[in-house]
Amino acid sequence: MTTDKSIYEEFLDRGLTRRDFLKFCTFMVGTLALPWDAVAKVEEALRSSKRLPLVWLEFQSCTADTESFLRASNPSASQLILDVLAINYSETLMTAAGHQAEEVLWKTVEEEKGRYVAIIEGSIPTGDGGVYCTIGGETAEERAKRVCKDASIVINVGTCACFGGLPMASPNPTGAKSVEQVVPNLKNIINLPACPVNVVNVSATLVHLLTFGSAPSTDRLHRPLFAYGRRIHDACERRGSYDSGKFVERWGDEGHRNGWCLYKMGCKGPATFHNCPKVRWNNGTSWPVGSGHPCIGCAEPNFWDSMSPFYKHLPKVPGFGVETTVDKIGIGLVAGTAALFLLHGAGSWVRDQIIRKRDDKL
Ligand code: SF4
Ligand code: F3S
Repeated sequence: MTTDKSIYEEFLDRGLTRRDFLKFCTFMVGTLALPWDAVAKVEEALRSSKRLPLVWLEFQSCTADTESFLRASNPSASQLILDVLAINYSETLMTAAGHQAEEVLWKTVEEEKGRYVAIIEGSIPTGDGGVYCTIGGETAEERAKRVCKDASIVINVGTCACFGGLPMASPNPTGAKSVEQVVPNLKNIINLPACPVNVVNVSATLVHLLTFGSAPSTDRLHRPLFAYGRRIHDACERRGSYDSGKFVERWGDEGHRNGWCLYKMGCKGPATFHNCPKVRWNNGTSWPVGSGHPCIGCAEPNFWDSMSPFYKHLPKVPGFGVETTVDKIGIGLVAGTAALFLLHGAGSWVRDQIIRKRDDKL
């Protein structure tokens, strides 16, 4: 529930120091790719802002986004998130149940109208009258519509809420849809896809909201540019291997042991927009490619259908052309590095255009 204390005061009450607070502000400014002088602005905003009332709805999902949220560990982020947010309702996290839980949800929706944040996890099953997910006597679809319409912002966390995810993959037996398909034309909507969402991006989105009074700028799929404005491939630490034609050919081979490019093992980094190489996971410890596994494109729309099989590269991205580029890299190495760089540069540009065009159509 909301209190009269500012976020900063709540933060101190939990035994954290001013230094922890400044570290968090600095980390958020870095994640949001803001200029460093924005630290003072973020600090000032969090010092004076009250906690944001929030309801977290979970529909057709595996709960990994909630799990990700609970495992936040960046400079005391888990505590800070608890300080930043007044999580009034969450089916998974709250201790209340039944009528008591329902009362809290609808009280927040009514009393905090136009102010509360709605976070949605999971896709929405619409088949057979919505019987595959009902809560408090109503379908997920009815509930999503009622809660989203008066929220100050709707933040969809995870690929299922953003794009339908696994439940919507063919044959989609439950008629699963994304939140935007079920509740179209919402004014303030943010999609934070990935399987699961990275809690750092949830925190950064909320900090942006508190600091600037608005959501961060997004692409056409409503993904914030700070987190989804760049291809994984372009920030990947293995990119040097890709550029010089050094590829892992088999699990455990010399290239794998030496951290070479995983493209030939199915890496979808060239077709995926996400900030994994920058913010990483588990308190910034590592990320899929960093630990030796290809990116499977989990932050992209329809990734279960369009990005699988996961261990073959880009099977269903029409005209993508990376295969050609990789094959030619071998020839290029023989033919001369100048030709190689020309070829690769052109290939990258063409790929970017194709991906952007594909995204525009979605
Ligand atoms: Fe990194 Fe994958 Fe690109 Fe290779 S293909 S450079 S592993 S993102
Ligand atoms: Fe997902 Fe690829 Fe990042 S699989 S977690 S977008 S590295």
